Amino acid sequence: MTDTPPPGLRSRAWFDNPANIDMTALYIERYMNFGLSQAELQSGKPIIGIAQTGSDLSPCNRHHLVLAERLREGIREAGGIAIEFPVHPIQETGKRPTAGLDRNLAYLALVEVLYGYPLDGVVLTIGCDKTTPACLMAAATVNIPAIALSVGPMLNGWHKGERTGSGTIVWKARELLAAGKIDHAGFVKLVASSAPSTGYCNTMGTATTMNSLAEALGMQLPGSAAIPAPYRDRQEIAYLTGKRIVGMVAEDLKPSDILTRDAFHNAIVVNSAIGGSTNAPIHLSAIARHVGVDLPLDDWQTHGHHVPLLVNLQPAGEYLGEDFYHAGGVPAVVAELMRQGLIHEDAITANGLTIGDNCRDATIEDEKVIRRFEAPLMEDAGFIVLRGNLFDAAIMKTSVISPEFRARYLSNPDDPEAFEGPAVVFDGPEDYHARIDDPALGITTKTILFMRGAGPIGYPGAAEVVNMRPPAYLIREGVHALACIGDGRQSGTSGSPSILNASPEAAAMGGLALIRTGDQVRIDLLKGTADVLIGDDELAERRRALAGTGGYPYPASQTPWQEIQRAIVGQLNDGAILEGSERYQRIAQT
Ligand code: FES
Ligand code: MG
Repeated sequence: MTDTPPPGLRSRAWFDNPANIDMTALYIERYMNFGLSQAELQSGKPIIGIAQTGSDLSPCNRHHLVLAERLREGIREAGGIAIEFPVHPIQETGKRPTAGLDRNLAYLALVEVLYGYPLDGVVLTIGCDKTTPACLMAAATVNIPAIALSVGPMLNGWHKGERTGSGTIVWKARELLAAGKIDHAGFVKLVASSAPSTGYCNTMGTATTMNSLAEALGMQLPGSAAIPAPYRDRQEIAYLTGKRIVGMVAEDLKPSDILTRDAFHNAIVVNSAIGGSTNAPIHLSAIARHVGVDLPLDDWQTHGHHVPLLVNLQPAGEYLGEDFYHAGGVPAVVAELMRQGLIHEDAITANGLTIGDNCRDATIEDEKVIRRFEAPLMEDAGFIVLRGNLFDAAIMKTSVISPEFRARYLSNPDDPEAFEGPAVVFDGPEDYHARIDDPALGITTKTILFMRGAGPIGYPGAAEVVNMRPPAYLIREGVHALACIGDGRQSGTSGSPSILNASPEAAAMGGLALIRTGDQVRIDLLKGTADVLIGDDELAERRRALAGTGGYPYPASQTPWQEIQRAIVGQLNDGAILEGSERYQRIAQT
């Protein structure tokens, strides 16, 4: 805006600006053309955006099209005017080459909308994996009052009397198919059984993780994240969320008031207790950078590793989203952690109260699904951070290491947290799929599989491909997971104990670019190291030789956005944001 805005609501600069009556008329007339009146637009009521992430292209979030009606009723009843607009769609399972490419694009577009239009506050309709961080990142940048509304998980999936969970069932179905126990029709039927209703993945994948963390961060109403999408309670919380955003505008309660360092540390602790996705560090780092909070990757180990796993949801456990809701959801988990002094209770949340006040009286309603702190599913359930000559930083979810995996790799009594093995290296998922079952690779039960070329630059957006199934001949022998390391991501629905998000990636000439099949690799979980056992001279020589060929090769961009993002995207350990965009957190507010 070039003219001096009038005092009060931000939207007055558009709709009620006596200093610029020409533009006011122009701004108003077009918002009147679908029925809003001049009196309403100049009534001093706040204009509340509904950032709509649902569409036919985004089935996980599609139910937001329905919930928006209840949001509108809440907004109107509390004295606001709702204006709904679309967010660039992101469907985790449907977008090629990967939805990871779209988080920053949706962020970028939403920043433009929130900054450039007459909005006094916004409801962020979150759900499917990347929609949550994209919305929170944008709200953090523009820093107008914002509240998130989760679309909620799908109902539990069932097949032959057993729960079938989103994504997790796919890994199982692949094994059954590889072992010849089901055919292709059986594969589809088994996988589809996990998606019985509208909503997002019902496992503790990235969606349930990020929606739970949005609540733990204080950006949603307490108790709202876990409500299944089709439940009537979901409609009610939409209405209450709509009412509340109007109050937040009146109080000028902004993302920067809620998304403090304490709030992020709360989210890290909650992430361990729920068995959250390995995508969470990437997205929380991105949100933190956009709100100007320092959140180094090491905070995940420092604040999160020693926290036990309390929530018994697939893939780490047995149950699914409906069970989590009935057991008490996020408030019950937070209350249990509070009793151990693990939560910063004073962190303010969207309802204007502290997280301590919101959750103190919450109770666990089903101890099979949410365990007591004294009887966890696993101790030390958080991530560890690894470093070495292969990468500057990577993370590992140690809570999914199975006894069978431990017996194979971590069985040396003198060195129980370390192992060595020969590397088998794949350049991108296509290379892996083409060769994994080739006996000539000589993959054994001690092999360490490498996936490179899958980072934010190499496979634009970073692919969820690091968790690689073993060759079929090993699966038939009962080997369900080999050690995997890679510069890509891993689906939160996978139970694989991979070493992920290795940064810098091969395409940025990180150490993974230099490793070769047959190299011996040592991993030490206690020391947090991962090294290829070759001399520095040899590594330097390999680096020179590779640089001489123009660097680590990766496929050409297929769209303009791939090229733009590749030129400015950062690495996974720094949130893979568009580097430089974090500066606008201050600029957008002036
Ligand atoms: Fe959208 Fe899992 S694919 S939530
Ligand atoms: Mg995913």
